[in-house]
Amino acid sequence: MTEPALDTGPPVDTTDAEALRDRALTTLTTARERTTLLTSCVEEPDLTAQHSPLMSPLVWDLAHIGNQEEQWLLRAVAGQEAIRPEIDSLYDAFEHPRSERPTLPLLPPAEARLYAADVRGRVMDVLERAAFHGTRLTEAGFAFGMIAQHEQQHDETMLITHQLRKGPQALTAPDPEPAPLFTGPAEVLVPGGPFTMGTSSEPWALDNERPAHRREVPPFYIDTTPVTNGAYQAFIEDGGYDDERWWTAAGWAHIRQHSIQAPLYWRRDGKQWLRRRFGVTEVVPPDEPVLHVCWYEADAYARWAGRRLPTEAEWEKAARYDPAGDRSTRYPWGDADPAPEHANLGQRHLRPAPAGSYPKGESPLGVRQLIGDVWEWTASDFLPYPGFQAFPYKEYSEVFFGSDHKVLRGGAFAVDAVACRGTFRNWDYPIRRQIFSGFRTARSGAV
Ligand code: AVJ
Ligand code: FE
Repeated sequence: MTEPALDTGPPVDTTDAEALRDRALTTLTTARERTTLLTSCVEEPDLTAQHSPLMSPLVWDLAHIGNQEEQWLLRAVAGQEAIRPEIDSLYDAFEHPRSERPTLPLLPPAEARLYAADVRGRVMDVLERAAFHGTRLTEAGFAFGMIAQHEQQHDETMLITHQLRKGPQALTAPDPEPAPLFTGPAEVLVPGGPFTMGTSSEPWALDNERPAHRREVPPFYIDTTPVTNGAYQAFIEDGGYDDERWWTAAGWAHIRQHSIQAPLYWRRDGKQWLRRRFGVTEVVPPDEPVLHVCWYEADAYARWAGRRLPTEAEWEKAARYDPAGDRSTRYPWGDADPAPEHANLGQRHLRPAPAGSYPKGESPLGVRQLIGDVWEWTASDFLPYPGFQAFPYKEYSEVFFGSDHKVLRGGAFAVDAVACRGTFRNWDYPIRRQIFSGFRTARSGAV
């Protein structure tokens, strides 16, 4: 079934050791700059406090980032001894649930910083001498890429914690360019037929994105842009949260039990809606993709609109299938790495861009903002692809497979390009909405 010939290769030359070394260095450095910003923009008490039982104290993320880097790059790749073996268990995500992490004897902020910097210093020596072949871990610098992605994933996690934190603004960023109101078609037809899903050739793709395989996807229509706040408000004003018809049984029980009436961080103020965003309260902008909705809310909205969520395969086909070449590209715009004109990524902005932004990032079929802005809930459970092999550890993906988690695709403004590909898979429980989650809708086409 696998047809690697149809799986687009990366633009980086994976046989060029200096290019790989450069890429590893750049991505690790970019991640550390972000980590430093996120852990230096608040005072110590805000680093050690737990801002929500859903999240770790920021100082846990900081030392966990260093500890993962030590385990994979210093111990697994370079064969070095543990620097501080006694702290491994404190920073093992499976040993301690997030809610109990504040009670652990964590490294205080100054020590956590020194530890992460010490690890990084030694990693720089390893990188200078690294060979980029020999084992699966070293092949094309995979372990360095995995660790840069891991740090950036925790930088997103820390941004979620910043958004949950009560108190004055600590982070600022320029707003995205104002976009002319999008006047294109509301939906796009994706023709039926097989396409290549997942990847076998992207060197830093994680285990759950592999291997490339053929999928038959019947014709369907998909929204050109993510669902906006304005559209979502129409669902609210129409009594969407009070009408059981739109909700799954589990979704209805959940919103009733928790009195959920609007996206997280929203508050009604007379006739208008306000939201809190990184310490600032503002009017909800109607043309921006809706953010901080759970899967149940996305699913209910879609049913109310006479539509449904796209499956994960539909989402990826909309994002990667190029009918002209009958092949899957790395990104909607082609095979080039993401640049600022393509997508809202990397915490450059602390909000999604208006719906219809980034015309240069659109897919060959004309679908916009598939990458960046908001994570998009799909209809699908998080399951392994045929031929999946856990690598390098079962706890990254395999232990999460099953019907408990729904897949999100496309990344968000909070996600760095190194941790975002057309094949990248994210997952979470259907009740979660502190994540940077939105959605778009779909409907089946005529076969
Ligand atoms: C892929 C975002 C679900 O944060 O739980 C970080 C990423 N894995 N450290 C998570 C991850 C290990 C993971 N998600
Ligand atoms: Fe982690």
